[in-house]
Amino acid sequence: MCGIVAYIGPKDATTFLLEGLQRLEYRGYDSAGIAVLGKGGALKVCKTKGRVADLAAAVPARFKGTTGIGHTRWATHGVPSDANAHPHTDNADRIAVVHNGIIENADELRARLTAEGAVFTSETDTEVLAHLISAHAAKDGELEDAVRAALKLVVGTYGIAVVDSAQPDRIVVARNGSPIVLGIGEKEMFAASDVAALVRYTRQVVHLEDGELATVRADGFRTFTEDARTVTRQPSTVDWEVGSYDTAGYEHYLLKEIHEQPAAVERTLSGRLDERFATAHLGGLNLDARELREIRRVKILGCGSAYYAGEMGAQLIEELARIPAHSEPASEFRYRNPVIEADTLYVAVSQSGETYDTLAAVQEIKRKGGRVLGVVNTVGSAIARECDGGIYLHAGPEISVASTKAFTSTVIAFALLALHFGRIHDLSPADGRRIVSGLKALPGHIREILGQEEQIAELAAKYADNAGMMFIGRVRGYPVAREGAQKLKEISYVHAEAYPASELKHGPLALISPELPTVALVPDDELLDKNLTTLGEIKARSGRVLAIGHRAPEAKLADHCIVVPKSEPELDPLLLNIPLQLLAYHAAVALGRDVDKPRNLAKSVTVE
Ligand code: F6R
Repeated sequence: MCGIVAYIGPKDATTFLLEGLQRLEYRGYDSAGIAVLGKGGALKVCKTKGRVADLAAAVPARFKGTTGIGHTRWATHGVPSDANAHPHTDNADRIAVVHNGIIENADELRARLTAEGAVFTSETDTEVLAHLISAHAAKDGELEDAVRAALKLVVGTYGIAVVDSAQPDRIVVARNGSPIVLGIGEKEMFAASDVAALVRYTRQVVHLEDGELATVRADGFRTFTEDARTVTRQPSTVDWEVGSYDTAGYEHYLLKEIHEQPAAVERTLSGRLDERFATAHLGGLNLDARELREIRRVKILGCGSAYYAGEMGAQLIEELARIPAHSEPASEFRYRNPVIEADTLYVAVSQSGETYDTLAAVQEIKRKGGRVLGVVNTVGSAIARECDGGIYLHAGPEISVASTKAFTSTVIAFALLALHFGRIHDLSPADGRRIVSGLKALPGHIREILGQEEQIAELAAKYADNAGMMFIGRVRGYPVAREGAQKLKEISYVHAEAYPASELKHGPLALISPELPTVALVPDDELLDKNLTTLGEIKARSGRVLAIGHRAPEAKLADHCIVVPKSEPELDPLLLNIPLQLLAYHAAVALGRDVDKPRNLAKSVTVE
């Protein structure tokens, strides 16, 4: 959510700043801006409402400097506008700041600074930082001291980059709840909120911890705490190839990520299946069999698609391990003073590892003495670090705002956890073997479904034109329906409602008409007859039905059908979801939507 880039070195900063911002645009894309320090340290700022491409067009030809910062924004305080775009500056045009996160006491600080003579030109919380740092810079001189002093007065979360026209040989960055990573180049240094902006320039990176700052110069950096204590941070190498951050010839990141799923699943499974004992090895859990046996309940927490993946996970755990399991939105859980139990295992799910609501839920559980595992894609992210152990997805960078491959890999991670749990409890070796071979076959099954893309695209074009769509599924099919509806609405803006198929007749059947088609999950399982009865009820009300299942229902029950390969019943939901991703993608394309950057959204919601 919002992207930060910074450069200092011998080259023109603008080129990197604009390129880097383009790579981070998925994190926020309602306005963008850059600031560079030109000859003699003169501060130049260019910012605009709109996309990074609009910013690039607005940057004057003579906008040159070798030290610079940039930002792409997802509005929280104040509408998207030129004035609210970052960087923000002080009244002397000496200090410029870009910021991710929320300054919670911004109103109070704004009032104090205004009384002291500061004139505000935006509605943002970030501008407070520029004036605060400026006030301290005047007194203390050294930029890093001024930033430290200002941050001591701030309550909230931030990742920031600051330049000072009086000290053009440095950039000061700081992190508290919003990531900042330094990139080490040859006589040049970079900083960003995400390695995606850096990998074209360097693979050597340093992740700052919360509460840390760094002074970055062209020839190196120094990391230190808010109390000015120097800390040593060793550089690490980014694991992923540069190509992992590109569209690799696909029209959109989303389509690329949908097609990457067989490989992502293979990576999530890699080295974790034990055929001999028909179980899974999960080295990062940090819980032995005895400790796992003491667990009486599993509570899964995540937001949006992570929460729906958690619902699939809860069903897997209940079915395979016979331990009560439940998924809840982390964003709700954290506000309801939850009861934390010693014999409950809490599992936080997050692709980014940054989602603030999920992080806050983890912190609340830990504060009350609970034990939390993370199911996370981004290695070393805030949520991963906060948890007591966990499972990394290894799905690879997910750039498109809508989650697809991370969703699938999350469900795989839960299948592994459920298998491991199950084999510690009462899951028989034969059933364990059934799940192990089911998991191994999934990448092939996913490839088979992806092979039907053309047919699904045709169906998407047929159904995209409706004002709304109903998604229904029973038990295992219900989280699939929820995720399918979520995907459709977020990227195509077609209203989509998910209901348990069993609940249709208790109210929403009133909505059924030829104008509101239904996507029905009808796997060939013990509930097939019940699902077919529901289809009959929809057809009797002149509803149109697109069925997703293991065989085509009779023509009188469904207008169209997508047939997916049959896996083990516990794993089927994962496969039933794949055509819904393609359906949403092609509906969005047919409607001319901005697939990778849907309106009003951004990847990684690092605010409350
Ligand atoms: C939907 C989507 C969001 C995220 C949610 C949690 O396609 O991408 O609903 O799933 O914001 O994000 P993470 O998993 O990064 O915590």
